[in-house]
This record gives sequence, structure tokens and C-alpha cells, in this order.
Amino acid sequence: MFKKIQDWFDERIGLTELINEFNGERIPARGGWAYTFGSLLAFLFIIQVVTGIFLLFYYVPYFPMARNSTYFIKHHVLLGNILLGIHLWGAFTMIFILLVHMSRVYFSGSYKKPREMQWVAGMVLFSVVVFLGLTGYMLIGNENSWWTINVLDNVASHTPLIGGFLRIIVKGGTETSVLTMQHIFAVHVWLLPLVVIMFIPIHIFLVRKTGEQGMPLEYKNSKLPDDDINKWKHPDATVPFFPDQLFKDMIVALGVFAVIYFLAIYFGAPIGPMFRPLALNFAPEADWYFLANEELLKYFPGHGLIIFSTFLIPTIGFAILFALPFIDRGHERSPFKRPAATVLGILFLLLLVYLTLIGGEPKAPATV
Ligand code: HEM
Repeated sequence: MFKKIQDWFDERIGLTELINEFNGERIPARGGWAYTFGSLLAFLFIIQVVTGIFLLFYYVPYFPMARNSTYFIKHHVLLGNILLGIHLWGAFTMIFILLVHMSRVYFSGSYKKPREMQWVAGMVLFSVVVFLGLTGYMLIGNENSWWTINVLDNVASHTPLIGGFLRIIVKGGTETSVLTMQHIFAVHVWLLPLVVIMFIPIHIFLVRKTGEQGMPLEYKNSKLPDDDINKWKHPDATVPFFPDQLFKDMIVALGVFAVIYFLAIYFGAPIGPMFRPLALNFAPEADWYFLANEELLKYFPGHGLIIFSTFLIPTIGFAILFALPFIDRGHERSPFKRPAATVLGILFLLLLVYLTLIGGEPKAPATV
């Protein structure tokens, strides 16, 4: 019976051949656990989509109702607290694993020729996932959401030339209103997920096209010169994706899901109090992945300097990261043989951790 169904599909779409091609991808034999982060990210995105769809059954994207409908999901919907918890901790985990995946790719020099486009597509995914986190935070409709919308709207309005225009796009006008929530909602559930759904297959297609580079160690027996593009497509020893790599991917995905589930049950998703537009001394708290940026705002206070923290430093930093494969064009991959790149990478991560930790310290209420 099963064979008949298989034959039926084979005659029409060559299913078995497609599956064999997918499963037969050659993966560098060494360090397979380090290559599990990419598929883990795809798995985490699916979790976000599934839990997000169920949340939509009850969530109301209308400012006074948003916080109350989230509260209702958490306290009155069957398994609602777990659903919300998984959506929140799944998002946090996804952003954290993005940083781990990027660090792995950075330190192993896997963004270099011929993998520049993998990095560029990855940067698009990175930006969109961070914006998914930010817009999700705003959708809760609590006091933090309200003030985060206002702070970020202020930040966007400092963009040279198009600041005023951006403000109108984000807010749907000049004031935070019902339309603001509707705009953020549309961006969070439609626009940004669509970009991710388009870019994950593009990214994985590109990775498969050149083959996984893996670790520089894999190439020590190659006779080809370092600047030969083909050298970096053929590691010395490989294993097939199925069963070797798929097994590792599944173990990691299950383990990480168990951690997310535990965090969802144990810590849940805090809803926080209803927003009060007149509580002008409320100090909003950003989610952990935005604390470093928030901290930066404090170092450049006042009208003359604020453009450094709201626009110049983030934009220049992002542009450098985006263009990394075109800036760092050396052929050396090993982190030990390119000390400048390795030290810079470590310093950048330490700065990020430092700014995040001090950004997370309790704040005095704002005076505005
Ligand atoms: C939703 C986000 C992402 C998904 C689903 C994803 C998926 C994947 C997968 C499945 C692989 C192959 C397995 C592996 O090496 O782990 C991979 C490799 C790669 N990714 Fe990503 N990725 C994402 C984000 C990023 C980001 C943010 C960057 C960098 C800015 C990036 C750059 C790369 C590069 C350069 C490779 C090739 C690595 C090599 O050949 O060794 N990816 N990605």
C-alpha cells in the first residue's frame, strides 16, 4: 500500500529522488554539533508560528483590549499560559541562538568567499527576527509596551530626512492610537514573518549550493591554494545529512524545546499592569536583547548628541556587520591565524554582555 503511494508520487514529482537528494547532502565530518544551530533556528521559527497562530484565536489588537486579552489567554484559556510562555521564551531563545549561530560562523570564517551571500541573507534574517521580538513586546499592550512604542517612535523620528515620515508609518499618525497598535500588529503577524518565510529557504538553498564550510580544520589536507574558491567547498571528510546530522539536529531541537517548555511553565509570560498614558514618571524596561541599545541612549543625552545613539552608532555598526564578508577578504579561516578578527569579535561580545548587564540594573523613574 505504502509502496503504491510512493510510486504514484514518484511518477509525478520524483519524490524519492527529492528525498534522497535532501538526505544525501554531505556535511563536514568533524564538529557536527556546531552545525545544529542553523536548523535549530528554523525549528524555533516554526514553534513561534504555531504558538502565534493559536494566540490569534483570542488576542485583540486594539489598545485598551490588547493587554486584557493577553491576560485572558494566560488565565482563562485552556493551556493559554503554556502557549504564551512558549511564545515568549521561544522568542528569547531564538534571538540568543541567532547570536550563537552568528558567532560560530564569524569565528570559523565561514562568511568568506564563496559564502558571502549566506552571510548577507543571514543578516536580513537577523534584523527581521529582532524586529519580530520588538513588535511582539509592544503588542502586549501593558505599561512597558505603551512607553516602548513612544520611546522607539522618538528614536525613529531622529532618523535624518525620513524621521518624520517613519513616525507616521509606525504610529499611523502623530499620536499613539488605536491605529498604532493595528500597524504594529500587521507588521508582527504578516509582514515580518513573510520575510522570514522567504529568506530561510533562500539562506538554506545558498548553504547547500556551496556546501557547509564547517571548521577550517577540515581543509588541512587540501592541496588547493587558499585563494582557490573550490578549496572551501570540499572538506576532507564528510558524512551524509541523514542519518548523521539529522540525528544531532533532532537531539538539540528536542533538548532546547524541553528547556523552553520548562521556562514557560516555571517563569511563564509576565503580563504587567495596564498602560497609563499620563504616568509620565514610568521608566520602561526593554527586553534583554535590547538593553545594550537602551544603555547606549544614556551615554549621548540631549538633542545635540542623541543622534549618535539613535542613528549613527547602530547604523554604522549594522552596516559594518552586513558588509563583513566584503571588508574582511583574507583567505585565512582559523581563528588562531587571524588574531585581529578573533580579538575584535571577543571584545564586541564582551561589550555587548557588559552593556546588557548594566542596562538591566534597576532604573530610577524617568523625569519626563
Ligand atoms: C532564522 C535565522 C537563520 C536560520 C534558520 C539559519 C539556518 C542555517 C542553516 C540550516 C545552516 C547550515 C547549518 C549550520 O551551519 O548551522 C546555516 C549556515 C550558515 N548561516 Fe545561517 N541561519 C540563520 C541566521 C543566520 C545569520 C543571522 C547569519 C549571519 C549573519 C547566518 C549565516 C550563515 C552562514 C555564513 C552559514 C554557512 C556556514 C558554513 O558553511 O559553515 N545565518 N544557517
